[in-house]
Amino acid sequence: MRILAIETSCDETAAAIVEDGHLVLSDPIASQIDVHRKYGGVVPELASRNHVVDIIPVVNEALETADCTWEEIDAIAVTQGPGLVGALLVGLQSAQTLGYLYQKPVIPVHHLAGHLHAVKLHRPDEPAPPVPSNHYVALAVSGGHTAIYSETPTQPIRQISNTRDDAAGEAFDKVARMLGLGYPGGPIIEKLARGGDPKAHRFTLPRFKDGANDFSFSGLKTAVLTKLKQREQPQSLPEGQERADLLASFQFAVIAQLADRLERAAREENASDIILAGGVACNGALRTYLRERFESLGLSLYVARPRWCTDNAAMIAGAAFAQLSSVNDLSTFDPNQPLEPIASWRLGS
Ligand code: KG4
Ligand code: ZN
Repeated sequence: MRILAIETSCDETAAAIVEDGHLVLSDPIASQIDVHRKYGGVVPELASRNHVVDIIPVVNEALETADCTWEEIDAIAVTQGPGLVGALLVGLQSAQTLGYLYQKPVIPVHHLAGHLHAVKLHRPDEPAPPVPSNHYVALAVSGGHTAIYSETPTQPIRQISNTRDDAAGEAFDKVARMLGLGYPGGPIIEKLARGGDPKAHRFTLPRFKDGANDFSFSGLKTAVLTKLKQREQPQSLPEGQERADLLASFQFAVIAQLADRLERAAREENASDIILAGGVACNGALRTYLRERFESLGLSLYVARPRWCTDNAAMIAGAAFAQLSSVNDLSTFDPNQPLEPIASWRLGS
């Protein structure tokens, strides 16, 4: 089955054609990073306007690159939410219009279900990546979300942990902004933190009085700001080794918190497999740290390829295919059905 997917929840206008939920035939992305960079973050109105300009050329590019005609497309998948309302609207309206024009069913998809499904994606010239076959916990960690989900062969997917304030990616973006480093902060911080000492500064691991396994990053952000103010020359921004040490310590504090919550979630849920997804999962230091720590605990880590960690449409097609496999037949799919809070990763699918 070939699904054409559209994703416009934030600042990437993306389309993709994916076969059977995992084989990516094409996945062009028109990135708006240059548009938003000078504002230090995404400006919602500008995002919507740029989606309007880019969406049809990107869909056409997806079809051309995959050498695919509309007759060969079985369904259109589109991100329904969460995301920026105006940005989502452009994708949804485009999907519905194309669905009407070409008589294709339109499948609404939860953005985070998309991120989780990214672990099974690969191109035709790549081997299929290993996917979880057991009970798993999944961390979706991006600029807008930091949440853990759990799914067993007998229990549907459910959210077991969330952030109480900022998302981890948001913390990367805000710390980069404080240091005048540009947007998006994650990849810039990862690069500048290389060669820094992660133990140069100690940041406390947050704990909640109610014992919840939730996340919190706003205290860490404030702690970095306090360090900046306490410098001998607080008027200037740190550079060189001083900056590398601060960034490496900040990055390690984020990684340590993500690892701590994931490990506890796996223990409490009795899960042996862990999925890591979302933009922050691009971070090499995070991937390496989790792999080493979990290997010694006998836990298997599944991470999407970096290209499909940040927002993309291939992951939306992957989640739509899993949604459809519970319906089995496109003719019985009701496009007006209310969106489930999050569609299951569907073990083994
Ligand atoms: O998944 P995504 O593209 O969009 C959302 O759904 O939010 O994630 C974007 C976020 C940004 O906050 C960005 O700074 C972060 O992912 N990010 C990273 C890295 N690459 C992107 N964070 C840390 N290290 C990276 N290498
Ligand atoms: Zn995302």
